[in-house]
Amino acid sequence: MELLITGSPRKGMYSDRLAECYAEITGAEIVYARTLNVNPCHGCGWCKGNGNGKCVQKDDMPELLEKAKRADKITIFSPVYWWQLTAQMKLVIDRLYPMSEEDWKGKTLTVVMNGAAEDDDKEFELLKAQFQEMADYIKVKYRFLGVGTTDDEAFSKAIEKVKTFASERQ
Ligand SMILES: Cc1cc2nc3c(=O)[nH]c(=O)nc-3n(C[C@H](O)[C@H](O)[C@H](O)COP(=O)(O)O)c2cc1C
Repeated sequence: MELLITGSPRKGMYSDRLAECYAEITGAEIVYARTLNVNPCHGCGWCKGNGNGKCVQKDDMPELLEKAKRADKITIFSPVYWWQLTAQMKLVIDRLYPMSEEDWKGKTLTVVMNGAAEDDDKEFELLKAQFQEMADYIKVKYRFLGVGTTDDEAFSKAIEKVKTFASERQ
């Protein structure tokens, strides 16, 4: 199962549409982070100790966490906000902290980011390298795509790139 989590606060806009196009091709299950009640990680460390991979917090994240553990692919679609993920997406990623090396084993992390910048903007190189570090740390396979969604014309090109990217997925 491929779990696709989207990070845009804007329903039905560029990132959502790219994610839905990708999911149509890959069959990924989409979860819209903006619809969830996810608190920030408290950094209490319970999940790494007595919690044994579970989170102490009682919000929407424990259910998503179990889904993430079961998935063989975790895919993130997010607009770029200030050279980073959106806050909605970051909340979810932080809360994947309970996942152990064993939970991550064999998974693929895919990150697709869209921004108002051009496709060849340095921000996408930086983001690609940053998530490569995360993928190396959790020892998973990794794919990245950065696309400009400056306007509707750029978005049309972005859709084509996402279609190719999705069809090349293994
Ligand atoms: C708070 C904020 C910060 C942003 N920062 C960036 C940025 O650093 N780089 C970029 O390319 N676009 C940036 N953008 C533009 C969005 O990434 C862009 O409009 C994107 O297409 C929005 O995706 P959506 O339609 O799915 O919401 C920013 C937008 C907002 C609202």
